[in-house]
Amino acid sequence: MPNVTFSSPILHKDLTVYAIAGDTSTVLAVAESHKVPIPHDCKDGECGSCLIEVVTLTGKTMGSHLTEKEKSLLKSLGKITAEEIRVAEVDDIAPKFRLACQYVVRDQDILVKFTGEPGGA
Ligand code: FES
Repeated sequence: MPNVTFSSPILHKDLTVYAIAGDTSTVLAVAESHKVPIPHDCKDGECGSCLIEVVTLTGKTMGSHLTEKEKSLLKSLGKITAEEIRVAEVDDIAPKFRLACQYVVRDQDILVKFTGEPGGA
């Protein structure tokens, strides 16, 4: 089972939770089920308020599928380059910034950082 550790200045301390391997939950869904307050609005990859920084702690740095909406929005926010998109798609290596509502948890331990401000990873 993968561990997802949430870290933010608005949390009293880092919180590690277990996600179900093979599940299709997004990081945002996992956060909500454990009452971790990642800012969000649309839940559809359009507003950017759920921006997070992801660090792979164990296992391969897998990219998880980037949706077209996520690629487009991260690009417009200046949080991903064309090269990072290429590497994510071709080599399956995750970019640093993601949208919590689009990023599906995979079988790897990750650290999810967020500031608590909408769009402020
Ligand atoms: Fe709007 Fe994730 S909640 S992009």
